[in-house]
Amino acid sequence: MAIERITDATMHDDDTTEQQIEVTLRPKTFDDYIGQDRLKNNLKLAIDAAKKRGEPVDHVLLYGPPGLGKTTMATVIANEMGTNIRITAGPAIERAGDLASILTNLKDGDILFIDEIHRLGRAVEEVLYSAMEDFKLDIMIGKGPAARSVRLDLPKFTIIGATTRTGALAAPLRDRFGLIHRLEFYTNDEIAKIINRAAKILESKISDSASAMLSTRARLTPRIANRLLKRVRDYADVNGDGIIDEKTAKLALELLEIDELGLDPGDRNLLVSIINNYGINPVGLNTIAALTGDEATTIEDFYEPYLLQIGFIERTPRGRRVTAKAYKHLGKNYQKDESQQILV
Ligand SMILES: Nc1ncnc2c1ncn2[C@@H]1O[C@H](COP(=O)(O)OP(=O)(O)OP(=O)(O)O)[C@@H](O)[C@H]1O
Ligand SMILES: [Mg+2]
Repeated sequence: MAIERITDATMHDDDTTEQQIEVTLRPKTFDDYIGQDRLKNNLKLAIDAAKKRGEPVDHVLLYGPPGLGKTTMATVIANEMGTNIRITAGPAIERAGDLASILTNLKDGDILFIDEIHRLGRAVEEVLYSAMEDFKLDIMIGKGPAARSVRLDLPKFTIIGATTRTGALAAPLRDRFGLIHRLEFYTNDEIAKIINRAAKILESKISDSASAMLSTRARLTPRIANRLLKRVRDYADVNGDGIIDEKTAKLALELLEIDELGLDPGDRNLLVSIINNYGINPVGLNTIAALTGDEATTIEDFYEPYLLQIGFIERTPRGRRVTAKAYKHLGKNYQKDESQQILV
C-alpha cells in the first residue's frame, strides 16, 4: 500500500510503537474483551465443556474483516484454557515439513494459532487434515522405491485459524473446524468502551463527548479506535494540556481528514470515482480496483466491509452499487444521477 491510511484496519508492520501499544491494549480475558457476546458465549460453553472432560477445546475458525479482534480472541481462549499458544501464519509455513516440526513440538492441550490460514499451501493443508482429525501425522520417509509412509501420534492440540476471507478456504479444511465464527462489527457504544479502556491503560484523560465522537469515526473496528485515540492523544499533547476533549478530538480528526462516519479520502475517492463514472449502475470489483489503482483484494478486504456495513454500497448479482445513502453523505444528487443513467 503506497499511502499509509490511518483508517486502514490492518497492522502497519513497520510501526513498532504501534505493535507495542497493540500488545499492552490487547484484552487477556473474556471480561476484558468487549462486545462479540454471541461468540464469547459460544466459546465459554465450549471451554467449560472441554475443561470438564479434561480435553482440549475443539478447533476454532474465526473470520471477519481485519482489526476486529481475531488474534486477540485466540490469546484470550489460550488464557481462559490455561494453555500455551504458539502463533504462526499461513504464509510462514512453506513446506509440509515446517508444519510437521511445529506439530511434533506441541504439548497436549496446546493451541496453535494460524493467522491468514487461507494462505496455506495445498501440500501443507493436506498434512493438516489428518493432524486435525485424528491427531496423526502422515509423513513419507525416504525417496524412490524405498519410500514409505509412517504415521506418528501427535499431542492433542487445538488449532485456531483466522482469516479475513472464508471464501478462500478449501471446504475440507473448513469442515475440520468444530467451531466456526464470524466476528461482527462493533456497535458505537462498544467502541466507546474500548476507547475508554485504552485511554485508561495509556493514562490519558478523555472526556465522554470526545470518546463518543471518536467511537463514531472508528469504522466500528477496535484497531482503528485504538489508533485514532493514539493520534488524537498526540495532538492533545502537542497542542494542549494533553486532555482529550471534544474540541481537540474534532480538530485532530479534521487534520486526519476523517469525516463523521470515519471515511477517509481513500473511501471518498472510491465512492466518487464510481459515481462519476458509473452513477448508480453496478460495477465489478476489478473495475473499481482499476478506478482507484488498488488491488481487487484490497478493495474487498479493507474498503468494502465497512462500506457495506454502513449501507453505502450494496452487492448485486451484477456488481457493487453505490446507494442513495452514500450519495447523500457525499452531497451528491441521487435522483439527478439516476435519470442521467437512464438517458445514457
Ligand atoms: N473486543 C475487544 N475489546 C477491546 N480491544 C480489542 C477488542 N478486539 C480487538 N481489540 C484491540 O484491537 C486490536 C486489534 O485486534 P486483533 O489484532 O485481534 O485483530 P484481528 O482481527 O486479528 O486483525 P487482523 O485480521 O489484521 O489479524 C488489538 O490489539 C486490541 O487492542
Ligand atoms: Mg490478527
